[in-house]
Amino acid sequence: MELSFAPMEGVTYASFRRTHARLFGGADKYYAPFIAPNGDGSYKTGNRRDVLPENNKGIKLIPQILCNAAEPFLLVAKELEAMGYDEVNLNAGCPSGTVLAKFKGSGMLRDLESLERTLDIIYSRCPIKVSVKTRMGVHSTEEFPAIMDVYRKFPLTLLTVHARDRDGMYKSSPDLESFGKALEGCPFPVEYNGNVFSSEDVEKICSHFPTVDKLMIGRGVIADPSLLRRIKGGAALSVDELRNFHDELLEEYLASGLDPHHAIPRMKELWSYFRFKFPGEDKNMKAIFKSKNMPDYNAAVSTLFSSGNFDADGEFSW
Ligand SMILES: Cc1cc2nc3c(=O)[nH]c(=O)nc-3n(C[C@H](O)[C@H](O)[C@H](O)COP(=O)(O)O)c2cc1C
Repeated sequence: MELSFAPMEGVTYASFRRTHARLFGGADKYYAPFIAPNGDGSYKTGNRRDVLPENNKGIKLIPQILCNAAEPFLLVAKELEAMGYDEVNLNAGCPSGTVLAKFKGSGMLRDLESLERTLDIIYSRCPIKVSVKTRMGVHSTEEFPAIMDVYRKFPLTLLTVHARDRDGMYKSSPDLESFGKALEGCPFPVEYNGNVFSSEDVEKICSHFPTVDKLMIGRGVIADPSLLRRIKGGAALSVDELRNFHDELLEEYLASGLDPHHAIPRMKELWSYFRFKFPGEDKNMKAIFKSKNMPDYNAAVSTLFSSGNFDADGEFSW
């Protein structure tokens, strides 16, 4: 089973990926959160720093582009090629309202003729391999066969299918049946994505689809950073491991120049996933979310970790 760590804007940046890879491993590759170029191919310096090879030593990284026009996509892809990358991923899945309105991300699925024209230019001119991460539709997964008809015309390196429509955001049940249909006679490799939070979920996907040998996992690995290792037969998460991961990550954030006012919200975002491992700890969890400075934050975190209420199997739920 090939396991990839999903891109998550605001979470899985280089510091996170490095710390995760060093302490847990298990990911065959990581996808970087999207780069959203302007029409002239320029994009945020922070995104460039995030994908620079020197910031991603020892991990296999696939950069991702969120863009509905071929020219800026190709300009960024060329730059990525110069950095040494041999693959780039196109985001056809972001469900955000503003992104959708601009016909980007999942909004690319609103106009399949335009999607086809864009892919036609990208696949004829991109100097490196192009994989796609897609939703199964905008308003309904019933749109998926028509979307697949477009993708089938191009030599996708890999199609990652987030098995929901855009309107399902991150909440609706993945549509396994329609995902299965997409696999029939598919000319390129397909990777499943959506709501894999445990080894049991992996077994469910594998028993439904014996030919699926690629999974992308996001929120499940944030909630349990050992999940990929665990799926591969490794040990479950221990409370000491989670504490160490938390501490090293916070140290990385601060060392990379992030000030406490920005580092604390990043850590709080992680706690919205870690909290499922601490049953009955609502009061201590509240203290973490309420903290506004480093001493209060650190004190709340220490109290929680010393509570003794840790459940390695506490499962993320949305
Ligand atoms: C906070 C957050 C940020 C995300 N950022 C991205 C992104 O930058 N690019 C992308 O393709 N998907 C993004 N996603 C979607 C995830 O990659 C993934 O497809 C989704 O969470 C479903 O997988 P999961 O159930 O394993 O989490 C994001 C999801 C979340 C919750």
